[in-house]
Amino acid sequence: RIPIWLDCDPGHDDTFAILLAAYHPAIRILGVSTVFGNASLEKTTHNATSILTSISQSTTIPVYIGASKALFRPPMHPPTDIHGETGLDGTSLLPCPLVPPITTIPAIDAAYQSLIACPPGTAWVVATGSFTNAAALFMKYPELIPHIAGLSLMGGALGNNFTPATLGTVDGVPRIGNWTQFAEFNILADPEAASFLLTHKDLSKKTTLIPLDVTHLCLTTAQVQDLILYGPEGLRPGMTPGKGKTELRQMLVELLFFFAKTYADVFGITEGPPLHDPLAVAAVLSGLEEGPHKIPFYEHDPAVGAGIAPQRERYEVGVATEGSYEDAKAGARTGQITARLLPPGEEGV
Ligand code: BDR
Ligand code: CA
Repeated sequence: RIPIWLDCDPGHDDTFAILLAAYHPAIRILGVSTVFGNASLEKTTHNATSILTSISQSTTIPVYIGASKALFRPPMHPPTDIHGETGLDGTSLLPCPLVPPITTIPAIDAAYQSLIACPPGTAWVVATGSFTNAAALFMKYPELIPHIAGLSLMGGALGNNFTPATLGTVDGVPRIGNWTQFAEFNILADPEAASFLLTHKDLSKKTTLIPLDVTHLCLTTAQVQDLILYGPEGLRPGMTPGKGKTELRQMLVELLFFFAKTYADVFGITEGPPLHDPLAVAAVLSGLEEGPHKIPFYEHDPAVGAGIAPQRERYEVGVATEGSYEDAKAGARTGQITARLLPPGEEGV
């Protein structure tokens, strides 16, 4: 199985990233580290331990505490209308964590020890929150760069591909970012960290970036929500419409309902929310041969609203790091990624 280190800020969609990684038969989670982002570090850490408890994995998957702020900036959190006060609002079914996070070793040191112990060229780092921990990891331990198989990041927006879920326009100019006009949340939360990872000459070659252009093709439609509620067999006699087959399914759909309302209220996307973060986990499967574990990563299936990019392309990427968060909100390009499509054969993100 593919060993992965999952760095996250749960977060509704981070929850599904944890689920995909924990349940997928071709993946083995080495450890989970938490970062500030969708809520404070304290809350995202609590949420990670609670989610693992809900799927009975709290004793098998350790949680480590990462960065509470960006490399060179104060922490940035979304307003509570995105993920709610707790970072994971919308359900009362989240259990109390059975196992606390590990406090005896910093997250990046734990990640290093686990990753370097894997055979060369096998392990992935997947980051679905701000990229602070991931950047700090490779800054402190550059020997990991040739050792890992890949780095998969959810973040950024190229503005190339915004069907079916567009973010509209601002003053007649297409809005490409979900946080500011130009910036996506995970990049803006720590643009210096993003710049380090995406422009590193060796690391960028093994980095897969899953931007909004991809995630907005993968909507959690009513049909997907029903699948989660009732299972693949669908609504059967004896089951109550709208009520999950199990408490876990019920909890997951309640989280999705909250996220769906966010996307309808804040972004005007009503078909169902894009579920960004699990796609960064799915990216580690894209190298697998055809077979039962293969995710059809590049096929879009309009019937279920899932599937992602039509093709894989390589880009040379830059990140705008000038300006404060306030500047970005006022229209500066802080946190925007610029991407130049590379001709086939050239190595880039
Ligand atoms: C990203 O920002 C967060 O709100 C989500 O969890 C996801 O990682 C999407 O821009
Ligand atoms: Ca996230």
